[in-house]
Amino acid sequence: MGYQPYQGDPDELMALGKKLFNDTSLSSNGLACATCHNDGAGYKATFAEAYPHSVAMAREIFGLDSVHLDEMVQVCMVQPMATDPLAWSSKELAALTAYMGEVQRGR
Ligand code: HEC
Repeated sequence: MGYQPYQGDPDELMALGKKLFNDTSLSSNGLACATCHNDGAGYKATFAEAYPHSVAMAREIFGLDSVHLDEMVQVCMVQPMATDPLAWSSKELAALTAYMGEVQRGR
């Protein structure tokens, strides 16, 4: 993709990511990431694999054979959260990606 992800203080990104994960104003339909993914819920077995990997939703709806973690955040923004993707270079995308990486490592 050749884009430059937002670079910032890792602790700050992690805290912001956790906050955004619970933020219903990110979606157009009143959902937050946590609505579906609270306490590690809602992921399929692929979430345990190192990125990039194949995810059924990304393949079936967007035709993507393989996704990086930031792309998976965008897939859930567009599909279940029914809104626009975050700007690729945004602090918000970097924060959610950092937080999701932490969640994945904790499983
Ligand atoms: C309406 C429910 C719903 C919401 C809201 C939602 N997701 Fe998901 N998410 C899913 C489902 C369903 C899957 C499993 C998709 C699959 O494996 O095909 C998934 C899978 C994932 C995965 C793991 C994919 C993998 O590697 O297997 C990540 C990471 C993820 N979501 C992040 C997010 C983030 C970040 C948000 C908020 C921006 C979010 N999701 C909001 C339903 C949701």
